[in-house]
Amino acid sequence: MSHLVAPSVLSANFANLEADLEMINNSEADWFHVDVMDGVFVPNISFGFPVIKAIKKIAKKPLDVHLMIVNPDQYAQTFKDFGADILTVHYEACHHLHRSIQNIKNLGMKAGVAINPHTSINLLEDTIADIDLVCLMSVNPGFGGQKFIENSFEKIKKLKALITQKNSKALIEIDGGVDLTNYQKLIDCGADVLVAGNTVFSSKNPSETIKLLKK
Ligand code: DX5
Ligand code: ZN
Repeated sequence: MSHLVAPSVLSANFANLEADLEMINNSEADWFHVDVMDGVFVPNISFGFPVIKAIKKIAKKPLDVHLMIVNPDQYAQTFKDFGADILTVHYEACHHLHRSIQNIKNLGMKAGVAINPHTSINLLEDTIADIDLVCLMSVNPGFGGQKFIENSFEKIKKLKALITQKNSKALIEIDGGVDLTNYQKLIDCGADVLVAGNTVFSSKNPSETIKLLKK
């Protein structure tokens, strides 16, 4: 499978969101990456259901919803109702991760698990076979435009080995600090999905930048 690119809506222009969403629709991007932050799990608040509903109305590609919130189970059904196709919860926010994954799948969504930079790949050993997507955080979650953490390359390789060993179908998604200088190495290490916020939206020609990230 050739890799996927998921522009992060967090870096879009919220004063004219429709234009940026249409840009993604008309680009080579594969998914919309939608970051939900609650100000508790991470030190920032992004947006909630009304904005997601508006995104879904315009988006012609899957919504990859990344929950940086405590108690994600409580809202899984609502995210489904508002149009999430992939729902990703944080390992660090789930007391009963296995149950959270099953719940997301039972609701008819793909189940993602995100892990923070300090969280070891080994902790996914007993759940990887059930996970559809692992979102490897390559920055500390909470903000766009942060510097990529170099240790992430090693983590991708470890995760890839675990996925192969356990015969899992999980995709490896990299989130944070992805740019035109590191994307090729990320793919070479085993990344399947690249999230890009700042790199896409602060560039002169976002659609062309997406095209470059797809190469
Ligand atoms: C960070 C979010 C990311 C963010 C990535 O907590 O999960 O999805 O939007 O932004 P960049 O690509 O700018 O690092
Ligand atoms: Zn994200």
